[in-house]
Amino acid sequence: MDLHVLPVELEKAYRLLNHGPTVLVSATHGGVTDVMAAAWSCALDFMPPKITVVLDKSTSTRGLVEQSGYFAIQVPNMAQIDLTYAVGSMSLADTPDKLAKCGVELFHAEGHETPLVVGCSGWLICKLVPEPHNQQTYDLFIGEVVAAYADTHVFRNGHWEFESAGPDWRSLHYIAGGTFYAIGERAVVKT
Ligand SMILES: Cc1cc2nc3c(=O)[nH]c(=O)nc-3n(C[C@H](O)[C@H](O)[C@H](O)COP(=O)(O)O)c2cc1C
Repeated sequence: MDLHVLPVELEKAYRLLNHGPTVLVSATHGGVTDVMAAAWSCALDFMPPKITVVLDKSTSTRGLVEQSGYFAIQVPNMAQIDLTYAVGSMSLADTPDKLAKCGVELFHAEGHETPLVVGCSGWLICKLVPEPHNQQTYDLFIGEVVAAYADTHVFRNGHWEFESAGPDWRSLHYIAGGTFYAIGERAVVKT
């Protein structure tokens, strides 16, 4: 694992998603691995930390999540804007070499089978909390975060430090039609 990738305490894992970034969802089962983009992902609980993500029935990644019971949510950055859009525009169902075509490289955290995307800013490995009604009716998946990591270039001591990390590290926030915003200025409430 990259020396800059360090574990994040589970108590602080929600902070990786609190600013509402577009994320990448990765999963693997039976030798098949996939990664897709998801704008509809959100923190759900502090401890144990839980998150939600909407996985449409048309996506191949969803099947891997259902079969393996695990998935990872990762926070991509401006350096990965093309990759993020590409994994959100192509399906493994009709493009077997999707990950190579999209330039996705994977790595593993010790003790976890779920593949993680190289170059992201933060990673949350999640165990699926099966809720068949929500999954079937709303495409809504809940995960309990079992491990979290972040790159110290941009997340240090439990906090994002976008302003000092440089433009490539800014998180992506999807609008539509291939347009994103990169996260903007820090604004602190006066107390
Ligand atoms: C920026 C972006 C955000 C997306 N957000 C979601 C989402 O929240 N949920 C979803 O089901 N699909 C979302 N998609 C679409 C999937 O990423 C897309 O269907 C992808 O091709 C699925 O890949 P797969 O079939 O290989 O799993 C998004 C696409 C883009 C480009």
